[in-house]
Amino acid sequence: MTVHIPVMLDKILELLRPWEEVGLVVDGTLGAGGHSRAILERCQGASLIGIDQDQSILDIAREVLSPFGDRVRTVLGNFRDVGRILADLGSPRVSAFVFDLGISSWQVDTPERGFSFNYKGPLDMRMDMGRLGSRTAADIVNGWSMAELAALFRRYGEDPFAYQVARAICRHREKEGPIETCEALVSVIRSAIPAPAQRKMRGHPARRIFQALRIEVNDELGALEELLDQLPSMGSEGCKVIFITYHSLEDRLVKGRMREWAGQDLGVPLTRKPLVPSEEEVELNRRARSAKVRCFVFGEPRRRRCSHVPSKT
Ligand SMILES: C[S@@+](CC[C@H](N)C(=O)[O-])C[C@H]1O[C@@H](n2cnc3c(N)ncnc32)[C@H](O)[C@@H]1O
Repeated sequence: MTVHIPVMLDKILELLRPWEEVGLVVDGTLGAGGHSRAILERCQGASLIGIDQDQSILDIAREVLSPFGDRVRTVLGNFRDVGRILADLGSPRVSAFVFDLGISSWQVDTPERGFSFNYKGPLDMRMDMGRLGSRTAADIVNGWSMAELAALFRRYGEDPFAYQVARAICRHREKEGPIETCEALVSVIRSAIPAPAQRKMRGHPARRIFQALRIEVNDELGALEELLDQLPSMGSEGCKVIFITYHSLEDRLVKGRMREWAGQDLGVPLTRKPLVPSEEEVELNRRARSAKVRCFVFGEPRRRRCSHVPSKT
């Protein structure tokens, strides 16, 4: 089984200091439980509610966190419903929220889930595994018009070849029928981008298109906005909100909202600039390369505005 290495774990733990004062932590993106396990080990008095929308990864997390017994509660759900989830659990006071956005290595490396341009598999990409009857990536690729696809690839993939790829997809559909697999989509993308441009690219030529589809399939930015709307009403005095983001669209939303909260005097950012991984971490874990960590603490007086953790190690 692929092991997911928790990203920027040391920085997350530093942000949670003083550890002895940490009470209830909500991990809204539990994944395989890597961050949660470390938090529970380090903060002896902490308990944790772990939320994930993916049933199969939640099963892994339950196993990983079983040694912590009743200090842990896991919930199958979307963090966009965090208000309702916590209300159902009696609206407990929360010490810290942690959100490590995106998908885990385990999901990426499970070909049947269809997240990866490196494997053969169905073009699926649904984090909730269809629990809520959501569309698959294949539904979008085969159902949307060329203009809609190009706009999607530009908006969520920031792909300079958005139009060319959308056109190649539509031509392929007309001539050869629907695109149902990851490998078929990769081949269409490759056919649309000139070879010299592909050679100059940093990363896989299909990376941006796959990112755009994944964001759309899972309404990732919509869920994030709904979550950000709710956090101020759940962030009691001293409650920390920590985000790990992996692309500029996510980071922009988080950064903008933390600025607004500070402007409304709801608290202060603990990270004036986003924290980024060290070169050593990126070397050990490629997934960390685009990570940015931001933290906001609710109810803190303005004069404490400072960065508790150096922005680079
Ligand atoms: C990067 S992984 C988290 C890894 C985890 N921190 C660890 O160390 O094992 C992100 C996880 O969040 C879940 N996820 C993403 N968006 C979500 C959402 N809107 N609601 C609930 N879970 C979500 C994914 O299914 C995935 O398991």
